[in-house]
Parts: sequence; C-alpha cells; structure tokens
Amino acid sequence: MCESKKAGIIGLGMYLPDNVLTNKELEKMVDTTDEWIFTRTGIKERRIARNDEATSDMAVNAAREALKDAYLKPEDIDLIIVATITPDMFFPATACLVQEKLGARLVPAFDISVACSGFIYGLAIASQFISSGTYKHALVVAAEKLSAITDWSDRSTCVLFGDGAGAAVLGPVDEGGILSTHLGADGGKGDLIKLPAGGSRIPATKETIEGRLHFIKMNGSELFKHAVKIMADAALGATQPLGLKAEDIKLVIPHQANIRILNAAAKRMGLKQNQIYLNLERYGNMSAASSAVALVEAVKKGLIKKGDKIVLDAFGGGLTWGAMVIEWSK
Ligand code: ACO
Repeated sequence: MCESKKAGIIGLGMYLPDNVLTNKELEKMVDTTDEWIFTRTGIKERRIARNDEATSDMAVNAAREALKDAYLKPEDIDLIIVATITPDMFFPATACLVQEKLGARLVPAFDISVACSGFIYGLAIASQFISSGTYKHALVVAAEKLSAITDWSDRSTCVLFGDGAGAAVLGPVDEGGILSTHLGADGGKGDLIKLPAGGSRIPATKETIEGRLHFIKMNGSELFKHAVKIMADAALGATQPLGLKAEDIKLVIPHQANIRILNAAAKRMGLKQNQIYLNLERYGNMSAASSAVALVEAVKKGLIKKGDKIVLDAFGGGLTWGAMVIEWSK
C-alpha cells in the first residue's frame, strides 16, 4: 500500500496511423462531397490503420510514449486499463495484450467499453486506486480502430470516424491532479448508436454479415440533439462542485464528434472559442481516443501549463458521458 494522495497525469503519449483518408478520397467511395462533410461536421481528413495493425498495436505505441514521458519503465506500472469499443477480439482483453507487448508485470489489466467516454471513465477508475494508495502507477490507454467496424458504403457514418490511440500514466501528485469527476449513462438511449450483431443477442451468421449488422448503426440527428445538452451538463457536473466558472478554465478538451455540437455546447457553457481544443478537422471522431489524443496534443503544443485547470468532457454510445477537472501538475 502507498500513502493516500491525489492522482494526477504524469505522462502522456499518442499514436496515429500514417495513412490519411481525405474527404476528397471519400467522394470517390460514397455519394458525398468535401463541402458537405466539412460544413456539417468540421472534419477534413482522418487516419486509417493498416490491415495488419490492430487496436492493441496502436495502444502499445501510445503507451510506450506515455511511459517515456513519465520517466517510467513498463515494470513500474501497477494497473492497465484500455478503453475501447474495437478490441482486437472479444477476449482476451486488449489490456492483457498490451501488458504482454509492453513487457509489464502480471498486474491487473482489463478493458472498459463505454465508447467515446472511455478515456475519462478509465482515468476515473485508475485515479481511485491511486488516491486510495492501492497502486502507485496506472496506465490508461484509449485506443480505437473504428475503420474496422465502419460501413464504408454508408455515407451517413463512414465520413465521421478515424483510428488512433492516446495514453496517460497516472501517479500520486503533491499539487493539483484530478480535482473532480462526473460520470453518467442512459441505457434507454442505447439504440441511437450501436453495433447490432456479433454479440450474444445476435451471433454472427451469413445473414448478419449480408445485412451489414457488424458495422456501426447510428441515428445521427437524434444523437446530435442529446449531445449538446449532455456535454454541457457533464462539464457543469464536474466544475460546479468546485465553484469553478467558465473563466477559471484554461482549456476544455472535448470528445471530437462534430464541430457544430462543440460550438453549441461551448456556447451553453459560456466558453470562448479559444478555450476549446479542436483536432477533429485532422482526425475525425476516434471515439475514446479522441479526447486522449486531444489532451496529448494540447500539452505538446504548450497550451496547458502547471497550475492550469482543464476540463475533459465526452459523450458516447451507451449513452455514456463523463467530465473531469484536472489541475495540471507537471
Ligand atoms: N454526404 C452527403 N449527404 C449526406 C451525408 C454525406 N456524408 N450523410 C448524410 N447525408 C444527407 C442525408 O441523407 C440527408 O439527406 P435528405 O435530407 O435528403 O434525407 C441530409 O444529408 C441531412 O442528414 P442529417 O442526418 O439530418 O444531417 P445532419 O445535419 O444531422 O448531420 C451528422 C449528420 C453529421 C451525422 C450529425 O447528425 C451528427 O454529427 N450527429 C452526431 C453524431 C455523433 O456524435 N456520433 C458519435 C457519437 S457516439 C460516438 O462517438 C461513438
């Protein structure tokens, strides 16, 4: 047991596949235009993993960078959590594959499936083990190969998603760290975005494959309506208990689903444009990896400094949502 302390992020890493798929290229695949995609979503291009590159491969690359950034070795890690809806396979958990590939000790390793809110849920779970003193260092990786579950003949979804991974190492910190967390879920709205077949309800058959039921199905306009309120309410759920106002927040790192959702949610939260970090133009929606990669980029660009208060904010399939206030401690 370690001494009870606040948990903070002490290392960050990310990985994005080299292959870029532009809107122009999508114009040749489905009945769409660069103009429609960009004005309706804010996305210009996204990364697509190689055929031989699975979620665990991307996760390990991001994890190695995060460990280096934390000045730690794989054997220093006491817990591994991978947030993903595109695991290499149902089981073993992708976190177990990551443990093996990293050469970590035989520490607990498990996946969480809460779609785009996964990075925040993962940080929230890991932080409990650290602040309780149970573990010293936890690795949380958000990694997705959404291209593997995207229907490339469905223009209403295939223009939105991309692949990538972000990772954080958590440890005890003397100052700052994770100050508050707000998580939630509404299973009643689970039908708005789902992958219908391949589980125990509808196992894989010739018919499910022909029916394209192993790809993401989404009610985009309905999701859109809920997303704006959910993101604003989640952020308030994390900031209000601390008495924080919009002007106290250095940067909001949101899940990158759609620029119109983010602009509307930001307005509701009373945020200025320069208080929101955006990268969806370059990567699209990478589910759990979106907010993780956005955080890594914002830190690398020097937009977050020691003592700054930032808010991670996400919603996703489930529906699930999560927001977290972190006082940067590096
Ligand atoms: N290119 C051209 N036209 C298209 C395309 C496309 N790629 N996709 C849809 N359209 C058409 C539709 O067929 C429709 O045509 P119609 O009016 O003739 O029927 C028209 O565009 C409008 O369609 P809508 O779905 O109403 O368009 P909307 O403005 O709602 O934008 C979008 C669609 C971008 C999907 C939006 O609803 C959205 O972003 N929703 C939220 C999605 C989301 O957040 N998903 C992920 C959350 S969970 C997770 O991340 C895992």
